[in-house]
Amino acid sequence: MLLETSSTNNLFALQYLSASTRAGSIRHAGGALEENLSLTPTGGPPGLSRHKITTSSLREHKLHHEPITCLTAYDYSAARLVDEAGIDMILVGDSLAQAMLGYENTLTVTVDEMLHHVKAVRRSVKSALLVADMPYGSYQIDAKAALSNATRFVKEGGAEVVKIEGGEKRADLIRRIIDAEIPVAGHIGLTPQSVNVMGGYKVQGKNLSGIEQLMRDAVALDRAGVACLYLEGIPREVAAMITAEVSTPTIGIGAGPECDGQVLVFHDIMNMTFGMPAKFVRRYGDAGSLITQAVAAFRADVKSRQYPSDEESYHLPKETRAGLETVLARKRAMRS
Ligand code: KIV
Repeated sequence: MLLETSSTNNLFALQYLSASTRAGSIRHAGGALEENLSLTPTGGPPGLSRHKITTSSLREHKLHHEPITCLTAYDYSAARLVDEAGIDMILVGDSLAQAMLGYENTLTVTVDEMLHHVKAVRRSVKSALLVADMPYGSYQIDAKAALSNATRFVKEGGAEVVKIEGGEKRADLIRRIIDAEIPVAGHIGLTPQSVNVMGGYKVQGKNLSGIEQLMRDAVALDRAGVACLYLEGIPREVAAMITAEVSTPTIGIGAGPECDGQVLVFHDIMNMTFGMPAKFVRRYGDAGSLITQAVAAFRADVKSRQYPSDEESYHLPKETRAGLETVLARKRAMRS
């Protein structure tokens, strides 16, 4: 029996519906397909199961001349796709400052902002080695703060390696962080956190003193025991010399093909950035155009009432519809 207790027709309808839906859901125990509302299933990855990549796997890769693959990822879905595609390392780079947060450079992004992304990536990554960038200001001020921030990336973010920019001047700090059982990735060459000191994003190591400094940096970090060494924006010849000199695996970006591995920014390879790409960027997909087209098509469908169709709509069960029609007919009769 339907009770018309509400002052509004909407509430009346809701009371009726909740009772009938309850009855319906008992009859359809297990849930009809159309009742499953989740848009992002969270089950395990359907792809091939892979070995977990660790810091020692990186050294094995170098030993066996097996190129190491690394991409940045900053959120759950992108990281999951990257991991399931078999990439060895995922870097939650501070480049997310520009790619995800729209900052002008990497200098403004904070530890808390980075952690927010590292945690999201951690939830999806199963096999790749997860590296988190320590942002500007989180390790330059004093060693105690650096250790405490590095620990946060491991304990709260689930990172397996933290990355620190800078060469020989960071060697002591890197040793202390490794002593605290946290693997560290080095990053030398064009280090974006030094943009103001470098006077712009410029290729480093183009003259003899620059090359000498880079070699000293690489050797110092190699001796400090870094898990890998990112080489950014340096001449191919210099990256090749460093790679041959150190036992640490080198991961290049704009550093030529002789590095032990290569890293690129996810948004760069997918054309999801808005400026001119750097010389070393190769586009492997055009998600930018794909998204623009899809969004325009959705907009056009809604404006022209092409979306949603009847097939894309939920429907009342037959008995509920009959009951509703009876109620409405009664209401119409009472009114007239
Ligand atoms: O933040 C980043 O994306 C990086 C890579 C370019 C190495 O540090």
